[in-house]
Formats: sequence, structure tokens, C-alpha cells
Amino acid sequence: MALAGRGWGKTRTGAEDVAWFGCANAETRIAIVAPTIGAARDVCVEGESGLLSVLPKVCVKTWNRSMGELVLWNGTIFKTYSATEPETLRGPQHHRAWGDEVAAWPEPETWDQLLFGLRLGANPQAVLTTTPKPTPLIRGILKTEGAMITRGSTFDNKGNLPAGTLARLRDRYEGTRLGRQELYAELLEDIEGALWNAVEIDQQRVRAVPDLKRIVVSVDPSGTKGGGAGDDIGIVAAGIGMDGRYYVLEDASCNLSPDGWARRVKQTYDKWEADRVVAEKNFGGAMVESVLRTAAGAAELPVRMVTASRGKIARAEPIAALYEQEKVSHVGEFKALEDQLCAMTPGGYVGHGRALRLTWQNHLDNPFSSECGCSLIPPFRRLSVKRSMREPMQSPPRPAG
Ligand SMILES: Nc1ncnc2c1ncn2[C@@H]1O[C@H](COP(=O)(O)OP(=O)(O)O)[C@@H](O)[C@H]1O
Ligand SMILES: [Mg+2]
Repeated sequence: MALAGRGWGKTRTGAEDVAWFGCANAETRIAIVAPTIGAARDVCVEGESGLLSVLPKVCVKTWNRSMGELVLWNGTIFKTYSATEPETLRGPQHHRAWGDEVAAWPEPETWDQLLFGLRLGANPQAVLTTTPKPTPLIRGILKTEGAMITRGSTFDNKGNLPAGTLARLRDRYEGTRLGRQELYAELLEDIEGALWNAVEIDQQRVRAVPDLKRIVVSVDPSGTKGGGAGDDIGIVAAGIGMDGRYYVLEDASCNLSPDGWARRVKQTYDKWEADRVVAEKNFGGAMVESVLRTAAGAAELPVRMVTASRGKIARAEPIAALYEQEKVSHVGEFKALEDQLCAMTPGGYVGHGRALRLTWQNHLDNPFSSECGCSLIPPFRRLSVKRSMREPMQSPPRPAG
């Protein structure tokens, strides 16, 4: 199975494999299975990387489009099948098979039926080519004993792809979570029941920072002493735009000593010209405040300590709902943060060790939620139009300079 990015040469690889096999082995029967019968015909056989483009013309006796059957002079027969109709594979037997875009096969049974019929000749084999998705079928094939897996990225084939195509793909996907799947063929696990999903985050992602009414830096302390031990300190800058939508600006989470993370908070605050720092009291509340007060330069930050009245998951749900309502955009990509979001379910976290604590949670919760017991983002209306002309907050007063 080749799990590879768009344009890597998956279709070409599958076509070359069965073309070579069919030419070298007379009187064999070969199955070609695609997500739809149209794709089998238009992509796998007639497409620019398809079977007809790689088979020597002199070898081809007939190609019957309506029957989806291609016959070679040596007696080999290629037959196309749709992955939507597993029952059409019940009965026919094959020496070899090629399945294209397997992650898009709607019926897992198609694979079972194909395997049952793959029993002619000494060593029947199947070649599968697909952009990866963590479907049960792909996961199952990955775990199959004897399966050989090849992985590759779109850019491995840049020599054969038009510059315009590459530019378009980069433009569309580079730097997005979806791009890790579509270009780099990473198997991104969508966790069942997760409060966030990658596609949702990707669809709302923006590149440029919009005009913002207010920016806060939120801090989720963890009690780490730094140096990689313990959980990260979550530090995230987020704002609300003139359009009323929320924007996650930066994930500056780190695993530094108290002095180190306090400086990081200050840098983030300065970088975004934030209005306020918000920190959670739950974990060593007094410690957090005193760390921020004593660290160089951080002493004058307007810090608001908030008390979380409910558990993290309960507070995450309304935030997830904001994403669902398309009210939150990430400005750029925050891989670690997004992976954690996508791993959070109403029952807790899935698949992460303790090092990946809820570093992100407060980031979103505190600035946006009215639930956290303070008026963090009070009357937006009175704020001026240009971000650079934002009014300072009334309480507490913003320090001079
Ligand atoms: N080994 C190769 N030599 C020359 N061109 C190739 C090779 N592999 C792929 N290509 C070309 O690269 C392009 C993308 O290949 P394709 O198989 O359609 O990609 P995918 O199915 O992975 O999206 C096609 O134009 C194909 O003919
Ligand atoms: Mg293809």
C-alpha cells in the first residue's frame, strides 16, 4: 500500500504495476477498484496516469468502456469495479488487484470481497494507492501481517508536476493540518466524539491578523519547574475581531522555569500589544501571581486571576461550540494546540500522555468565556475601530508605557 500525498504518483504507480503484471503474465485476470465506477474508468484506465497511458499500445486488443473491460492480446483481462458495489466482487476471481484511493471507499466490505476473490496463480497480490485517512479500513490494512507500506509526500514528485499545480497545492494546504494529510500523507487521527475536529479548524483558519478590538494573553500554569519535566505552561494570545469573531493569534506555551515562562508571557503580551494577561488560580494561584510580579519586566503587566468554577472539559464545551458555529479562527497553524483540541472528548483526553496537559484550554476559555467569573471582554462596542487605536481598558488601568 502506498500512502502518499496528492500528485505523488499513486495512480501512476498502481497503473504501472498492473500493466507490467498483465503484460508479463498471459491469460491473467486483474481487478481495478476505485471509489466510483466513473473514477475507475476516467482515472484508473483513461486518466493521464492511468492504465492506457502506461500500457504499450501494441499490447491492447480492446477497451470496452461500458463494460469496463480491457483485454490484451496475450489474453489478460482487466476489469473495473466500483468500491460502492462490493457485491459485484462476489464471485469473480483474480490474479492481481489494484485499489485506488482506498481511503475514499465507502464500503469496507469491498476489500473483503476483493480479498476472497484474490486467489488465482501462485502469488496473488494487491496494490493499494491512496491519500491516507484514518478510516477503519486503512487502519486494518496497516496492521495486516505481510502488508508493505510505502509513504511519500507530494513534493517527492515535484520533477513531474507542473509548477502551477504545486503552487496551488501549497497555497491551499501548506501549513494546515489538512495539508499534513493531503501533501505529507500523515495519518491524522480524528478521535471519535472529540469536541473539535481538524477539518473544522482548517476551514476557519486565516492567514492574516484581522482588525482586533481586544487581545488577551492567557496563562494556564502547571507547576512545572521547567527543563521538560512536568506539563507545559499554556500561554496563548487570543483576540476578538471587529467582526465579532474570535482569533487565536499565538500558542507560546512552553516548559520553562518560572522566570522563563513569566518572560515568555511578557514577550507575548508585548508582541501582540495585548490588553491584559489572564491566569488561572486553580494551580498554585498565589505562585503564579508572584512569579509574574517578580519576573523581570513582567511586574507591571495587568494580570487578572480567574477562578475556574467547573472542570476543564465542562468549560471547553462552550468553546468547542463557538468553533462549530464558525466563530473562531486560528491565525496560522498551531500544531500542538490543535492536536490537543482534537483529542478532547466529553469523557476526557484520548491518546495523550501526561506531558500533553490541557495547555491550551485556558487560552480559549478565559478570554472568551463569561463563565470564568469575570468580565474579561467587557463591552466591545465602546472600543474604537482600528486595533491601533483601541481604547485602554478601564479597570484595572493599563500601566504607562
Ligand atoms: N515516475 C514518474 N515519471 C514521470 N511522471 C510521473 C511519474 N509518477 C507520476 N508521474 C506524473 O505525475 C503526475 C501525478 O501522478 P498521479 O499518479 O496522477 O498522482 P496521484 O495519483 O498520486 O495524485 C501525473 O502527471 C503522472 O503522470
Ligand atoms: Mg491519483
